[in-house]
Amino acid sequence: MDHDTIAIVRNSWKRVEPIAPAAAALFYDNLFDADPGLKPLFKSEMTHQGERLMKMIGAAVDKLDDLPTLVPVLEGLARRHVDYGVRESHYTTVGAALLKTLGQGLGDDFTPAARDAWTRVYGLIAEVMVAATREQGTAAAR
Ligand code: HEM
Repeated sequence: MDHDTIAIVRNSWKRVEPIAPAAAALFYDNLFDADPGLKPLFKSEMTHQGERLMKMIGAAVDKLDDLPTLVPVLEGLARRHVDYGVRESHYTTVGAALLKTLGQGLGDDFTPAARDAWTRVYGLIAEVMVAATREQGTAAAR
């Protein structure tokens, strides 16, 4: 992950953090609009779930320049997601909902460069998580 991408993502995340609860609520609205079928997977109270999601994205943004630390965290997260009923294709839906939310939350600050940087960063996170999801499936079949 190059330094410019990391810097852009960190800068825009700083603007999201003060509005994290609203951003999380907006994210779930966007997600369930895109696929109402995902709703039953979420069993916890959504405010608490939103907090956990925002904290985890913040932690990932912090560790983008330290992939040896970040990757195993994401792999563990992905394996837990298999138990929540999350499938590979859901990562595409979540990525689109996240980008939409960033656009709504950041307005004009969500420049084409910021969109591009977030697309790359979410792409990396999703790639690691989907690979761990697949491995989990293979292990379960053995
Ligand atoms: C960037 C990718 C993602 C991140 C950072 C993320 C983050 C989190 C975190 C931190 C939790 C709390 C529980 C735990 O740590 O195990 C969680 C739970 C959960 N996530 Fe994700 N997640 C991601 C992708 C997804 C996707 C693609 C889905 C598919 C719909 C999803 C659905 C869920 C569900 C259903 C739960 C359990 C909720 C409950 O306990 O009721 N997540 N996620």
